[in-house]
Amino acid sequence: MEDMQQSHDLFFVSSNSHKYQEAKIILDSFGIKLGFFKSNLEEIQSNSLDDIASKKAQDAFFKLKKPVIIEDDGLFINSLGGFPGPYSSYVFKTIGNKGILNLLKNSRKAKFVSIITYCDKKTLQSFNAKVDGMISKFQKGKGWGYDPIFIPKNSKNTFAELNNKNELSHRFKALKKFSNWYLKQ
Ligand code: IMP
Repeated sequence: MEDMQQSHDLFFVSSNSHKYQEAKIILDSFGIKLGFFKSNLEEIQSNSLDDIASKKAQDAFFKLKKPVIIEDDGLFINSLGGFPGPYSSYVFKTIGNKGILNLLKNSRKAKFVSIITYCDKKTLQSFNAKVDGMISKFQKGKGWGYDPIFIPKNSKNTFAELNNKNELSHRFKALKKFSNWYLKQ
């Protein structure tokens, strides 16, 4: 299904409405109005989030013919050699949070990475950011995706339990970099 609000200059293209809801709140706080174009973009097989994001952004612009941003994320767990990383979406759909928890023994260090890629007729530009943290021992709180198992650094709570996730997440940090650049254009 593809859904579009006509009155915006910038569109977030994704099949994931959770990501859009968060991105909208974050960009609103920087004075940027974000529309939503719900679309399932094809994801190339690559070890590089950057390459995946650039290809997705070009596809999104080709579909919509309006300035777009797309986001690609990855959860990287140190003791698993960075797994699931660029395969985070597939791994969530297959083994899920329970499967990840079963894989972990000792070190629980992890990071969440976000790449926001902007594309219009002339420009293709990416902004990435990470938030360090840990994988919890149990799922805690009600949230989407990996939120119930990711505890950001300096916190005792998972993303799912925090009421200020949108002020410290990987998404917030990448969108902040994007906003600084976009507002100067
Ligand atoms: P994607 O490939 O960019 O869609 O994201 C990779 C995986 O990470 C997907 O399963 C997403 O649901 C999950 N994910 C991305 N960002 C977040 C987040 O902020 N919280 C929880 N899960 C997330």
